[in-house]
Amino acid sequence: MDPSQWIDVKEDKFKYQLDHFVIPGHYKDDVESILIPHGLIVDRIAKLAQMIASEYDNERIVVCCVLKGGHQFFSDLVTYMKKALNKQGKAVPMTLDFIRAKSYDNDRSTGNVQISMSEEELQELKGKNLLLVEDIIDTGKTMKKLLELLANYEPKSVKVASLLLKKTPKSCGYVPDYVGFAVPDLFVVGYCLDYNDIFRDLDHICAISEVGKIKYENN
Ligand code: HPA
Ligand code: MG
Repeated sequence: MDPSQWIDVKEDKFKYQLDHFVIPGHYKDDVESILIPHGLIVDRIAKLAQMIASEYDNERIVVCCVLKGGHQFFSDLVTYMKKALNKQGKAVPMTLDFIRAKSYDNDRSTGNVQISMSEEELQELKGKNLLLVEDIIDTGKTMKKLLELLANYEPKSVKVASLLLKKTPKSCGYVPDYVGFAVPDLFVVGYCLDYNDIFRDLDHICAISEVGKIKYENN
């Protein structure tokens, strides 16, 4: 996917006022602004699903959700991919799988990735077409490590769809195959993206506030 096909979320242009949308009362002081309202997220995913499906042949894809943050995106993406058509104009056969990867504490990458798949489950990936579904690529280190690990198990192909790609100088240079939105270098939450497991129950993608960072900080 060419970068011209990403939606570039510019900090100055895409800051929606909180009182223009519905925000759960328990988060009203904890987010600064809305960057991507829920409706826009879902509309964008409909398009990503079409683009992805149209690049596969009549082969089964193992669509693998990177938990926990990727779960909402995964769920909506699969819903639209079921209605999308492949290169031959046919529905795409899919198997759904899940992998847990954790590398963040507070708003910092810890640099070591913990993965939850057993050796047996990993062996089963051999010869499969894998599509990893991730919420956000920030520094890119988590995904780079995950891809290095998975390559040892010889899948036939591996592609990555990430809803968000952060425009950050801390990037290791990794760019996913499919990107929904390129976002500014802010800590974002909502639509299942979390800060210490908080904010997954917020529909819109928002920038966290200083109040929110302090309130939910892990000590
Ligand atoms: N928000 C939530 N989770 C994340 C982020 C972010 O900005 N970057 C990496 N993981
Ligand atoms: Mg994540």
